[in-house]
Amino acid sequence: MNMSRRDALKLSATGLAGAALVQATGCASLGRLMGKPGQDPNSLRYLADKRGLIVGSACAWHLMQDENSPYCDILGREFNCLVAENEMKMEATQAERGKYNFTAADGIMAFAAKHDMAVRAIPMVWHDGNPDWAMNATFSREEALEIIHDYIFTMATRYKGKIFAWDVLNEGIGDDGPGLQDKGPWFKAIGKDYAQIAYNWAREADPDAELFYNDFYINRFSVKAQRTLDWLKEELDRGTPIDGVGLQYHIQVDNRPKMQEATDNIKRFIDLGLKVHVTELDVWLPKNYTQEHLQRQAEAYAEVYEMALAIPEFTAVVVWGFTDLHSWVPYTSGHSYDDALMFDRQFKPKPAYEAIRSVLRGS
Ligand code: XIL
Repeated sequence: MNMSRRDALKLSATGLAGAALVQATGCASLGRLMGKPGQDPNSLRYLADKRGLIVGSACAWHLMQDENSPYCDILGREFNCLVAENEMKMEATQAERGKYNFTAADGIMAFAAKHDMAVRAIPMVWHDGNPDWAMNATFSREEALEIIHDYIFTMATRYKGKIFAWDVLNEGIGDDGPGLQDKGPWFKAIGKDYAQIAYNWAREADPDAELFYNDFYINRFSVKAQRTLDWLKEELDRGTPIDGVGLQYHIQVDNRPKMQEATDNIKRFIDLGLKVHVTELDVWLPKNYTQEHLQRQAEAYAEVYEMALAIPEFTAVVVWGFTDLHSWVPYTSGHSYDDALMFDRQFKPKPAYEAIRSVLRGS
């Protein structure tokens, strides 16, 4: 299980079936999750497959209805991994209590299978992204445990063997103090051991999937990164099965972490024995941005892929969408920022795309 990306690359030097995933996870049994490598030798995906790197994108099922659309075309051609931006959150799969709806999630899984893509999944337990019936309720500890047990086992069993990594807990660490934050229905009803319980159940439900902790603003030497390290160490010391940390990486173009700092920070997580994924990369531009902004955006993207190639335990880079036509950035920034992705609104590649490609080419 613990071979390096380079060792795995040697092993899979012939037929590249499942190569990127095998190399990146170091787990031969996961190779079955990916079929053919990318077909277009100029695509990110083809180049990433050769380097043993998982390159993913978030996607939205309602945009994937026409297989011949530019959206689907780019998704299948450029990426070897998919993440459902919203469709695997509890608010989407269980809008009504006890009644699951997998239409969108299954659709995304089918697209991934058809295009030989790996799937990363988010999140099992989160203070946000919950249906109204859960958000507004006050559960007893037993009732809350029953709900998340049912949820984790239902999701992980349905997609067992098809998802290589799960974010089990999302955004559990707060801004105000050490340890897990007292936020959302699950913490409130269960208490701070909800995390350990959720990871144990996820491991039991799908023993082969890698289990991640995912959060924002932990991609630099922030107070929150230190708190997250402390908490992860505590959980790992008491045997909680956490395999990796997901760095969300929503960054404003002129406030990106310096590469040395970002690298040293990633190494701190690796020193705990964890893998690292960048899970939600986007690089926000201000309104009326200039050519220089686009250039700096390209540099910011390129640096992340460069770090991933340089650090064997940093195995996946997932962008939070790929076309500026569909992005959460304008909405979340109150329309102060936008244009954060690597293709423009007409699906034309931006400098960021070219910069990533040349990093993956090694030129
Ligand atoms: C966001 C989606 O991009 C939006 O479409 C949705 O309205 C809200 O959630 N951190 C996470 C993601 O872990 O799940 C969030 O996704 C972005 C921040």
